[in-house]
Amino acid sequence: MSRSIAFLVRFAGGLLAASAVSAAAFAATPSALFNDNCSACHQTTGKGVKGAFPALAGDPYVQGDPAPMMATVLAGRAGMPSFKDDLSDLELASVLTYVRTSWGNKGKPVSASDVAAARAKLKAGKKPASLQAH
Ligand code: HEC
Repeated sequence: MSRSIAFLVRFAGGLLAASAVSAAAFAATPSALFNDNCSACHQTTGKGVKGAFPALAGDPYVQGDPAPMMATVLAGRAGMPSFKDDLSDLELASVLTYVRTSWGNKGKPVSASDVAAARAKLKAGKKPASLQAH
């Protein structure tokens, strides 16, 4: 009896451990987020493609004030798609921090609450005056 209980406890513990491992496997790493969402254009090296996709490696724009960079990636610009509906605040913070600190870049990290604030600002700015809350 007590042996079968011990087995059940071990079995349940094993299940918990297994689900913790698979949850970790699904949380994308910053480099995976970049490679999945950005590298088709900006390349995994961050060097871009001359004349088509700007280099992010060594780009002063991605190492300075994060506000314009966050706005660009949230809203898109010219040939660059918008990511506001595809990536969460946390995912955007992760990928932007990756861009700002990879390939020799020396930008400061961006947090999920920075992205949330930029998202709210973008929404407020885009909303026509007639639709604004009273
Ligand atoms: C479909 C191609 C494409 C994808 C995918 C893409 N970009 Fe871009 N990106 C561009 C283009 C084109 C520009 C230049 C836009 C312009 O001419 O104003 C750009 C510009 C930028 C800029 C501004 C650079 C500067 O110096 O002005 C940043 C930052 C940036 N992209 C980051 C990202 C990040 C981060 C991702 C992934 C989340 C991403 N891009 C995905 C095509 C892409």
